[in-house]
Amino acid sequence: MRSSSLALWALNAACIAAVPSRHALDSRQQSGAKAFCSSSDGKYKLSTLDAPVKGAASPPAGASQWELSIDDTPAGRRQQITGFGAAVTDATVSVINSLSADQRAKLLKELMTSEGADFSLLRHTIGASDLSALPAYTYDDTDGNREDKDFQSFGLGDRGGAMADMLAEMKKLKPELTILGSPWAPPAWMQLDRKLMGGTEKNNLDHAYVDQYAQYFVKYIQAYAAKGAPIDAITLQNEPLNSQSGMPTMYVYADESGKLIRDNVGPALKQAGLKTSVWAYDHNTDQPSYPQTVLDTAKEYIDAVAWHCYATNNQWSVLSDFHAKNPDAAQYMTECWTSSKHTPWHQASSFTVGPLQNWAKGSLAWTLGTDTNDGPYLGGCDTCRGLVVVDTTAKTYSFSVDYYMMAQYSRYMPKGATVLAGTGSYTYPDSGVGIQSVATSNPDGTRTVVVENTFGNDIYLTLNTTAKGEQWSGKILANSVVTWVLP
Ligand SMILES: *[C@@H]1O[C@H](CO)[C@@H](O)[C@H](O)[C@H]1NC(C)=O
Repeated sequence: MRSSSLALWALNAACIAAVPSRHALDSRQQSGAKAFCSSSDGKYKLSTLDAPVKGAASPPAGASQWELSIDDTPAGRRQQITGFGAAVTDATVSVINSLSADQRAKLLKELMTSEGADFSLLRHTIGASDLSALPAYTYDDTDGNREDKDFQSFGLGDRGGAMADMLAEMKKLKPELTILGSPWAPPAWMQLDRKLMGGTEKNNLDHAYVDQYAQYFVKYIQAYAAKGAPIDAITLQNEPLNSQSGMPTMYVYADESGKLIRDNVGPALKQAGLKTSVWAYDHNTDQPSYPQTVLDTAKEYIDAVAWHCYATNNQWSVLSDFHAKNPDAAQYMTECWTSSKHTPWHQASSFTVGPLQNWAKGSLAWTLGTDTNDGPYLGGCDTCRGLVVVDTTAKTYSFSVDYYMMAQYSRYMPKGATVLAGTGSYTYPDSGVGIQSVATSNPDGTRTVVVENTFGNDIYLTLNTTAKGEQWSGKILANSVVTWVLP
């Protein structure tokens, strides 16, 4: 969808008379269109803007113009939206649970309903991740990491139980919520090095325990279901190519992952009567051969491919290439960080709009909640800031800029909406600024258009639609994300 030629005319500011036409003002009142904005400076937080008007933009002299088009004919319909959200980690659960009952209830409602971001897709960590307090744990830890073939020591424990309870509450607030679970490592006794943390040597699954490895997923899914938190999908391993010593990780080869799904995990889920699906990979876009191998090996058990954003020179077009080869495989952006120090204001918007332009059905921030020190964490990421930041001493919470940027999508692109083809998105390679946009056709007949403006100036946007040949225009504020909802 990125088109360089289309955008070239937008380089120079157009000089057109400033007075809005009478016709434009009238249609603004009658059109039923709406606009909402969140800005980098926090001045706008899902705030209502003047609605776009019918017709071409009529900007003040010297103002910059841009043109986009969306194809809302049947030919332009692409993937369906599953949802948007973030990762529920142990850090997330502990900081949210530190709030007073009132504040906690208010926050959960803001996250999961149209009172706030209205998230409908969440990922959660199965056992400890880097965003857990010490000690690291799984749902089947044993003294000295001795084997536990019959799962005598299986249990969610305090932290797993609290996580399942919170997901169950979220599911109650949002019954159509989709939940993905990902382990950072299986129990230490199933690993060749018999260690949960420490060491990258033999940081692999011990294949003497492939049946137990599969049963571990079955038992976890059953335990969460019993608490009211149905798990819709799992990945076998968070970042299977990322073997590290300072946090729970495990290395899984591509062909190994395919065979584990085909021969062990897939059949075990099926035999247990579970509807939970398996999403392949869960790692960066620079190794697309990994999910291809997994899909080629275990296609009958796999619904989707999960991607992260951390490749050097990350290219979301990898997802479009993957779609061309595997048109039936759904795709998701399952992890990208938002940081207190290292990511730009448009981070959450950019890791959502890019994947959506390239066939992803949803996008997930890492992570949903942290304290004011970006924790608790046991290693790994020490500057990962949650979309929600909880001051655990004052017992108050606030939303990061990333929360609002994510909500510019999640609030207005409901589950079941269909992404539309479009043209005109372009980022200048030298400056890294531009306009990126994605649109959906929604179940209620409205259309949503999200526009990310990383220019330091306002942009007067004209949008063409194919089906009715409409033009809509309006102002997109500098350094902001604006969402239009068109009738
Ligand atoms: C939008 O429509 C106008 C009028 O038909 C046309 O001149 C322009 O090229 C179109 N722009 C895009 C981006 O499709």
